[in-house]
Amino acid sequence: MDNTPIIAFRDFGFQYTVQAEPTLYHIDLEVRKGEKILIAGPSGCGKSTLAHCVNGLIPNSYPGKATGALTIGGKDAFSQGLFELSKTVGTVLQDSDGQFIGLTVAEDIAFALENDCVPTAEMHETVRKIAKLVNVEQVLSHAPQEISGGQKQRVALGGVMVGDVDVLLFDEPLANLDPATGKQAISLIDEIQKHTGCAVIIIEHRVEDVLYRPVDRIVLMEDGRIRFDGNPDELLSTDLLPQGGIREPLYVTALKYAGVAITADMRPSYLPELALTDAQKAQVRRWFASQPPTPAQPEKPVQLMVKNLDFTYSGGHHALRGISLEVHKGEMLSIVGTNGAGKSTFSKVICGFETAQSGKLTLNGLDLRTLSIKERADHIGYVMQNPNQMISKNQIFDEVALGLRNRGVAEENIRPHVEETLKVCGLYPFRNWP
Ligand SMILES: Nc1ncnc2c1ncn2[C@@H]1O[C@H](COP(=O)(O)OP(=O)(O)OP(=O)(O)O)[C@@H](O)[C@H]1O
Ligand SMILES: [Mg+2]
Repeated sequence: MDNTPIIAFRDFGFQYTVQAEPTLYHIDLEVRKGEKILIAGPSGCGKSTLAHCVNGLIPNSYPGKATGALTIGGKDAFSQGLFELSKTVGTVLQDSDGQFIGLTVAEDIAFALENDCVPTAEMHETVRKIAKLVNVEQVLSHAPQEISGGQKQRVALGGVMVGDVDVLLFDEPLANLDPATGKQAISLIDEIQKHTGCAVIIIEHRVEDVLYRPVDRIVLMEDGRIRFDGNPDELLSTDLLPQGGIREPLYVTALKYAGVAITADMRPSYLPELALTDAQKAQVRRWFASQPPTPAQPEKPVQLMVKNLDFTYSGGHHALRGISLEVHKGEMLSIVGTNGAGKSTFSKVICGFETAQSGKLTLNGLDLRTLSIKERADHIGYVMQNPNQMISKNQIFDEVALGLRNRGVAEENIRPHVEETLKVCGLYPFRNWP
């Protein structure tokens, strides 16, 4: 096998022009053909920055100063343009919505071929082949806005595969997928890698979900540096993941609670092959049996009451059918469901962005339907799935202060409140940032 790395970072550092401090420090990392690597690390540690150095968005879209060396396909990365790099590296971004260019799914997949002036008949044939591989044949003539999150991911994947690249780079491929669709995506990435033999880099903090299929190496990042680069089994036999703020697979945590010492030869990184002795299994059973039952919570007054809520979109899609539930004061409730089950629709109806055709909705006994969206916002705070849809102010302080200002709170009362909130969220140092 050809052993020269496709990607090689050597003592590489990077500082965005707009930042006072570097974002990446002393990165030494090599990726070879056919390797599958997971890059994990807490939010803001520089994973996407690293990815952007590989796909050319840095320095072409986000300028800055690099130190050390980065070669891709044996050539200096920063002297290659975006187009040249796209022949080596195919990227599926964190937010796949920003990635669609074509009017239909088929056009989107064909984009790289059109750029390369491939004859039409051959192009149709290739698009069909790829669509079959990523299982979007049925929606080829749909507009990208009309398909689900999981399908979008598949289309984006098809689009990069068509380019016949050496490296497939995924930035948080699981972000918007339900667990079942996420598993499908991870299996699909695995199959595609086996099929094409390219190198695969997956950036994710959902480590357990990625490990649904084996990876060759895990790279753990922290504050712009590489903390660990090596064998997944070795990593999971340490405490580095939880120390770095990343959730380790739950079965590993459970084994630790049960007092089982985890070693690399138990193969902790791949559940189907996890090897436990009979004594260790007995240890886990004993621990499980000794757990006290969860104590019953005292009943609190009902705050939000939903009764027989029914909602159909103007296009005819019957999204909510007879929803009834109660939310008690101080309760923390999580609503789960597959992609497309109606979770976001339900929140929109509660906040008043959509109006239910029938059913009852009360907050502390007050009929919510008598309140406008703005009035409901005095009682209900809403964080949307895609934060970009929510941010409207130029500075972080002003964004957080927006709700209070809209309600006419005096400016001298706003500042302490906003500063306190920013501290809780760990954003205080960024308050005057654009
Ligand atoms: N385009 C940009 N211009 C300037 N600074 C940026 C830019 N993108 C990211 N940064 C900064 O670089 C740091 C690392 O961000 P990055 O997006 O690489 O983190 P990440 O590890 O991908 O986080 P997440 O898990 O939240 O996606 C952050 O402090 C961020 O503010
Ligand atoms: Mg990121």
